[in-house]
Amino acid sequence: MIIINKVSELETYVARERNNGRSIGLVPTMGALHAGHLSLVERAVKENDDVIVSVFVNPTQFNNPDDLATYPRTEEEDCRLLAKGGVSVAFVPDVNEMYPKGAVHEKDFELGTAAEVMEGKFRPGHFQGVAQIVSRLFELCRPNRAYFGEKDFQQIAVIKNMVESEGIDVDIIPCPIKRADDGLALSSRNALLTPEQRAVAPAIYKALKEGVEYSKSHTVKETHDMIVNAVNANAGLETEYLEIVDARTLLPVENWEESPEIQGCITVYCGKVRLIDNIKFR
Ligand code: PAJ
Repeated sequence: MIIINKVSELETYVARERNNGRSIGLVPTMGALHAGHLSLVERAVKENDDVIVSVFVNPTQFNNPDDLATYPRTEEEDCRLLAKGGVSVAFVPDVNEMYPKGAVHEKDFELGTAAEVMEGKFRPGHFQGVAQIVSRLFELCRPNRAYFGEKDFQQIAVIKNMVESEGIDVDIIPCPIKRADDGLALSSRNALLTPEQRAVAPAIYKALKEGVEYSKSHTVKETHDMIVNAVNANAGLETEYLEIVDARTLLPVENWEESPEIQGCITVYCGKVRLIDNIKFR
């Protein structure tokens, strides 16, 4: 595996591989890698001649300066894991390299209504920042396929909209959520939990799973309230939102017959750590 820090070096690498007719898979990450990230990497390695994994904590997608400052960074260990995973290139740029004109929003991407609800509402500017960095990575890496986790369910919908509005030729490949044995969705932010918080956090997925059972004999609103109450009954957990939405439009549904594909997306504060998860209802 080669570690590339410079955009110019990455462009040279990509041009050579594309000229040789080799397919490229891209896995964008913010590092602090765990088995969730590595499941995307594993799939990309199976399906492409070359795999580029970017490790870059993107400042323009953080709307909370504390969140950016405390975001875990484990670059050396990340590169070790990627080399072991059969990756061709770890792209680890610094902020000046990715944002030579400064880390600001340079343009408005058309991301559709999917970017306005849920995370879009609670983290203003977040998806514009994601679109900015992901479109730049697509431009530099020219991937045939790019891999994203369903842990960030809304992010996938927004990136698909971005790819369409920008006319980018890439296959977006969604990958299932990896969980710890106790059900907690793996996340880089889990490293910030105290042992007590880590012990209570699995209650989020437990409530979601119970919600799916409960939904078979209750309305959307009853199911919503049951899940929120079950999560908030745990000392140290506070639901920011739970939305039960059409899995394609991400707009809320009022009854189970409204759509063939329905997803529940939840955000919970565990102390100061913001955790997200989601589950398929229909
Ligand atoms: P990050 O949170 O590092 O996640 C990188 C990728 O790994 C995302 O596609 C995310 O959905 C996926 N992922 C994270 N946890 C997962 C889990 N438990 N199971 C399966 N996949 C998981 O998402 C971002 O970074 C950034 O927004 C990024 C796309 C890199 C743009 O900066």
